[in-house]
Amino acid sequence: MQLSIVVPTYNEAPNIEELVRRVAAATRGMDVELIFVDDSTDATPDEVRRVAASAPVPVRLIHREHRRGGLGGAVVEGFEAAAADICLVMDGDLQHPPEEIPAMWHRYRHGDVDVVIASRYSGGGTSGGLADNTRILVSRTSTALTRAMFPIRLKGVTDPMTGFFLVDRRALDLATLKPRGFKILLEILARKNLRIAEVPFDFADRYAGQSKASLRQGFNFLSQLTALRFGKMSLFGLIGAFGAVANLAIMWGLTHAGMGYVLAAIIAAEVTIVGNFLLQERFVFQDMKGDASGVWSRFAKSFGFNNAEALIRIPVLAFMVQTWHISSVVAAAITLVVAFFVRFMFHSLVVYAP
Ligand code: GDD
Ligand code: MN
Repeated sequence: MQLSIVVPTYNEAPNIEELVRRVAAATRGMDVELIFVDDSTDATPDEVRRVAASAPVPVRLIHREHRRGGLGGAVVEGFEAAAADICLVMDGDLQHPPEEIPAMWHRYRHGDVDVVIASRYSGGGTSGGLADNTRILVSRTSTALTRAMFPIRLKGVTDPMTGFFLVDRRALDLATLKPRGFKILLEILARKNLRIAEVPFDFADRYAGQSKASLRQGFNFLSQLTALRFGKMSLFGLIGAFGAVANLAIMWGLTHAGMGYVLAAIIAAEVTIVGNFLLQERFVFQDMKGDASGVWSRFAKSFGFNNAEALIRIPVLAFMVQTWHISSVVAAAITLVVAFFVRFMFHSLVVYAP
């Protein structure tokens, strides 16, 4: 087998037949297999089986019960299951024209590279299939931001967020990948120094169905970027900062509604404690959690610590307001900054102790 073509699918039933037809036509004369790694809730798996029965290329189906890692997790499972070491990833909606596969394959064969990226933004490539101006702007901005954050690793890479690429899986450490959501290529490129080539392509319109991109994917992307670049502490800090702003906003709202600042601070603190815990579980320590049954125990530790901290913080706050005659919001801000450092130590050493 020369090439394994990995296609992550989530509810793409009406696209399967056309995709298989065009991939088979485009790769005639090559020794390829198609692997659908599917998380669908619609008839996609049945459709893949039906089309596979009469397809001119081998078509395999991995249907996952749990959507672990989303699109990126599906891609990594495809790499693990592939019969060939050279794996090509493409979307299942025909936005990535299968006719580009031979050019990518040739670039790999003659290029002495580990990765071939099909780029919407290099000479000749276009992003016409991005549905509207907002998405084009988001895509352009996040690409620029990402390239600025990884100036060395992404040198010469015009489209680190494309979902259309070829990799030699022997060059990757599959076990170290922690895929989350859409941007699996970015993670591959950020974790290791690889030899990269690009070929341009025209991002087409979807053949059928709707995009699964969402605001949630956007947040996934931002947290992934921060985690890859700066590690857990900064992500924890980002969430802490977000929590502090939320805390102050709640306090501001409640005191302006006429509530006393002590009660307002208590309510703001409790809301922020629960919110921060949920965000930390999901984005910061997701790979250090062990089994899911421990979630209440972690919550108890985190909640207990943060309340103890707040209990100390509030008298200190009152003291600062009364003796220094500063505004309660400024005093709260000072205590929150100090508390942040203590909190990070406690969470990494106790709550999520290895
Ligand atoms: N297995 C699996 N699990 N597949 C998924 C999941 C999931 O949770 N979510 C989406 N997919 C599949 C879709 O079925 C499709 O085949 C492919 O991943 C891309 O999803 P789309 O919903 O078509 O995404 P898009 O067109 O908005 O995004 C594409 O362009 C982006 C750049 O603008 C993708 O190629 C992204 O990877 C790319 O970053
Ligand atoms: Mn798409």
